[in-house]
Amino acid sequence: MKVTLFGTGYVGLVTGACLAEMGNHVVCVDIDQAKVERLERGEIPIFEPGLEPIVRRNHANGQLEFTTEAAPAIGHAQIIFIAVGTPPDEDGSADLQYVLGVARSIGQHLDRYAVIVNKSTVPVGTADRVRKAVAEELAARGANIEFDVVSNPEFLKEGDAVEDCLRPDRIVIGTSSERAVDLLRKLYAPFNRNHDRTVVMDVRSAELTKYAANAMLATKISFMNEIANIAERVGADVELVRQGIGSDPRIGYHFIYPGAGYGGSCFPKDVQALERTARAVGYEARLLGAVEAVNHDQKAKLFEFIQRYFHGDLHGRTIALWGLAFKPNTDDMREASSRRLMEALWSAGAKVRAFDPEAREETQRLYGHRDDMVLCDNAYQALEGADVLAIVTEWKAFRSPDFARIRAMLKAPAIFDGRNLYEPEAVEEAGLAYYGIGRGRSL
Ligand code: UGA
Repeated sequence: MKVTLFGTGYVGLVTGACLAEMGNHVVCVDIDQAKVERLERGEIPIFEPGLEPIVRRNHANGQLEFTTEAAPAIGHAQIIFIAVGTPPDEDGSADLQYVLGVARSIGQHLDRYAVIVNKSTVPVGTADRVRKAVAEELAARGANIEFDVVSNPEFLKEGDAVEDCLRPDRIVIGTSSERAVDLLRKLYAPFNRNHDRTVVMDVRSAELTKYAANAMLATKISFMNEIANIAERVGADVELVRQGIGSDPRIGYHFIYPGAGYGGSCFPKDVQALERTARAVGYEARLLGAVEAVNHDQKAKLFEFIQRYFHGDLHGRTIALWGLAFKPNTDDMREASSRRLMEALWSAGAKVRAFDPEAREETQRLYGHRDDMVLCDNAYQALEGADVLAIVTEWKAFRSPDFARIRAMLKAPAIFDGRNLYEPEAVEEAGLAYYGIGRGRSL
């Protein structure tokens, strides 16, 4: 089928590449000329395992094109995806200017029936606003062309995005148009081979589904972090509690890992946006407010531990930091817990020596100007001249380090483990102090 996709960020690029991989002819439009040129050369602007080969292969065989030209791309497609960014506005609500800009452009150039699909995470009611924007532009040029607007939210996880896209656990299609459903069913048929994963619903329910999914996952994490904070104070080990509750299939083992807080471009933004949506219709979402507040405090935890360890004075201290990305297998540092930690350490007069397997370029971009941060080439180099070690991202490479070597390199040997990677006893046996999240060893 002929597909056009606006926006070559995470969602747009992965979706476009996967649709091309299934044999569709996909045109990806982005306003960023430099980005389009890089993509044309086969350079992927993000670190996402498995993405590069499918982009290159499908670009080489002509199934995946990149352009800055909206008009011909709109003429090309039966299905037009909107996957542009929706950055949080100053008040925390999603900024829809890019989504509505694309909708206007579609209205200006559409010349026959097409399905317009919202892939970006957008507040409930956005499909109606997109429909209105397209209709206004069509009316302005006296064009009488039919179209449908569908909400088809994306559930991919950074780091597993290609896999999630090729093998989705559900495909939510929100529309009341049978014509649109038929076209999308056809598009997604190759992703649905063994059993039908399509869930068809009205457009507002589809829009809310996306927020409900992310808010539920964020709630699980904040809930577990709250249990960790209680565990710490009553002398229990949250890791044992986690195993104890996860075996109940109603609770499950997934997404109950306590840690230094959730980050990324989705959970913080979506929880806030859903809270706003609720407030706008006269409902105070108390649970969501609490989820966010717990997460906010959780991101300060490692700093508080480190500060207490040094009796409130961090001047002249050097902290080694392993992990900068908001989670493993990505170079994304949006809302990363590492940033809150580093910024707090710097404000308190400490220096940071940091290492991350993939987020070095991004760190350089964000903090390259600072002289109180050294970006290191490997994990052990970060320990040189450092007082203590803090871990914020659970990269596999950090899972079984040489504790004796760490002990020998640190001046005030202690590990602050923001992802509970280690067994406290194993670290303590090597002569290091150990502070994890909710492990009964509070400071
Ligand atoms: C999230 C959702 O998981 C996807 O389903 C969704 O499609 C996506 O947002 C989106 O809206 O686009 P992502 O932001 O890539 O995906 O990251 P996650 O893997 O969900 O991790 C989010 C954060 O939660 C990370 O900082 C991670 O360290 C933290 N986390 C996760 C925990 O602290 N504990 C856990 O048990 C799990």
